[in-house]
Amino acid sequence: MTDRAVDQPIHNSFFGSSLVSLSQYGLSEMTRIFDLAERMADPKHAADVSQILEGKVLTLLFFEPSSRTFGSFSSAAKRLGAHTIEIHDAASTSTAKGESLEDTVRVFASYSDGIIMRHHMPGAALRAATVISKPLVNAGDGIGEHPTQALLDIYTIRKHVKNMDNLKGLVVGDLYNGRTVHSLIEGLSKFKNPTIYLLAPSSLQLSPELQSRFTDSGVTLKLIASVEDIPSDCDFWYWTRVQKERFTKMHEYEEVKNSFILTPSLAQKYAGKKTLFMHPLPRVGEIDEALDEDPRAIYFEQVQNGLYVRQALLALIFGKTFIT
Ligand code: NCD
Repeated sequence: MTDRAVDQPIHNSFFGSSLVSLSQYGLSEMTRIFDLAERMADPKHAADVSQILEGKVLTLLFFEPSSRTFGSFSSAAKRLGAHTIEIHDAASTSTAKGESLEDTVRVFASYSDGIIMRHHMPGAALRAATVISKPLVNAGDGIGEHPTQALLDIYTIRKHVKNMDNLKGLVVGDLYNGRTVHSLIEGLSKFKNPTIYLLAPSSLQLSPELQSRFTDSGVTLKLIASVEDIPSDCDFWYWTRVQKERFTKMHEYEEVKNSFILTPSLAQKYAGKKTLFMHPLPRVGEIDEALDEDPRAIYFEQVQNGLYVRQALLALIFGKTFIT
C-alpha cells in the first residue's frame, strides 16, 4: 500500500455510512470489502494499515455479553490505528439508570467518530443509527441481524468455493433466534441461485416472514426435519448454538438444546468430501471437538478472517487514507 495518498477521503458508498443490515449491500459492496480484507490479511501492509484510522476514536457500545465479537472489533480498530472507548456492560450502567437507548448513543457519538453496537433488541441498531449523524455498525441486534458475522462467513466460504453461483448450503440449529443465520442467508441471496437447506427443531425453524423474504430475493429454501434428508453434496454446513438467552422457560431450552450434534460419524455419513464445516462460535456441545482435526472444519479460520473483514469494513466506513 505504498501508493496510498494519506488524508484523502475514501470516495466510496461506505464512507460515513452506517451498517445496520446486510440488505444495504449488493454484491459489489461485499466484493469491495472482501478485496480489502485480503490486503488486511497480508502482513506486508501492516505499517500502512496502522495509519488508516490514526487519530480516530471509536466506541464499542455493547448492551449484551460478548467476548469474541467485542475482541474482534477492538483488535480491528486498534490495528487500524484508532483509539477505542470500550463499554462491555452498557445495559447494567446507562440502561439500569433509566437512560434511553437513543440518549446513550447520542452521548457516545459526541465522544467519538462512530459507534459499534450490540443490543438485545431486534431493530435497536436502526433506531440508534437514525438519531446520530455519525456511522453506527451493528454488531448484533437481538434475534435480528449480525451483518459483520455474515460478511466474514461469506468471505470464508469464498476462499474455499471458487464458484459462488448455485451454492448449496445447510444451516442447522436455532434458525428462529439465530441472527447470524438471518444475515448469512441475506448475504448469500446476492449470489446466483443459492439453495439453503434448513434443519431445525420445529419450534426453532426460520420464521415464515424471513422465509418469504429470502424466497422473494431468489434463495431456494428447503426445510428438512432430519439429518437423513441432508444432501450429500453441500458446499457448507453452518451449525449454530440453540440461543439459551432467548428462552424464558429453561425446560423448553433443555428439550431442544441437543437436537442436532455434529460428530465425525455424522460427517462421515452425510457430508461430501469438500463440504465445509462452519460455526459462528461459541459452540456449546453442538460440534464434537473430535471434528476439529478434520480439514473441512473451518470454524477457527472464520474467527481469523473476521478480524480482516472487520478491519476492511472499518477502514471503508471511517478511513481517511485511500487504499488502492
Ligand atoms: C454469535 C452471536 O452473537 O450471534 N456469536 C458471535 O458473534 N460470534 C453466535 C452465537 O452467539 O451463538
